[in-house]
Amino acid sequence: MIRRLISFGILAGVAGGGAARFVHLVRSAGRRVPGGIVIANPAQYDAWSHRLLLGSLFGPIAADIARAAAPDARILEVGSGPGHLAGRLAGDYGLDVTGVDLDPAMVGLARANAARSTNPVKPEFVVGDAASLPFPDASFDLAVSTLSMHHWAKPAAGLAEIRRVLRPGGRALVWDFRSGRIPLHRHMLDPVASVHRGGLELVSVTSWRWPWRLRLLTRIELMRSAEGGTGGPHLDP
Ligand SMILES: C[S@@+](CC[C@H](N)C(=O)[O-])C[C@H]1O[C@@H](n2cnc3c(N)ncnc32)[C@H](O)[C@@H]1O
Repeated sequence: MIRRLISFGILAGVAGGGAARFVHLVRSAGRRVPGGIVIANPAQYDAWSHRLLLGSLFGPIAADIARAAAPDARILEVGSGPGHLAGRLAGDYGLDVTGVDLDPAMVGLARANAARSTNPVKPEFVVGDAASLPFPDASFDLAVSTLSMHHWAKPAAGLAEIRRVLRPGGRALVWDFRSGRIPLHRHMLDPVASVHRGGLELVSVTSWRWPWRLRLLTRIELMRSAEGGTGGPHLDP
């Protein structure tokens, strides 16, 4: 009994220490730059996102994306950070993924993570702003994004750009915090509000279970309609 209590104490101490450091990381997280908010300490985010909370996030999300993607689909991940989701999509499902992130340091980490991986299929990463994506029109079948849209300075412009680079009939899957009070974050605005100004058709909005049994995320599915011209929506300045 005493041994069990000591083991529990040690485990609680380790978990508590880890959680406290994670809380510290998230609280000191953001640095505002032109285009959005980047993570202040990308290397620490990389390590913690891989080991702690976000690993549990990417498994179900990668499976969801793989169900939505044709085997030969070209996938764009916007705000790809250290590239763990893109790595899973390429490594576990053999999908063709390009990640784009505003922060050159994050792109450097994502490239290093991909280079270290033993998976034969590797994602690519480029530096760019969601609001002016460095890709030609109609060059992707599916766009995805996790925990990033609330960092973008101009979310509606980012969604309009996603519309531009999607082929007609292409889809976008966006996971972001639901509106309201979110632990360790400022009050979140409704992520669906930007969607209406981005020119993509709203297919569905569902709450997403993460972390653990909580439902802090919203999954938004959007579509670029197969008809219609290539012109994007009118965006207010
Ligand atoms: C909280 S991190 C999420 C990273 C990754 N998607 C994940 O789920 O771990 C937010 C990311 O969005 C990126 N970001 C912020 N503004 C951006 C913009 N305008 N365009 C592209 N990426 C942006 C940041 O550099 C950062 O890597």
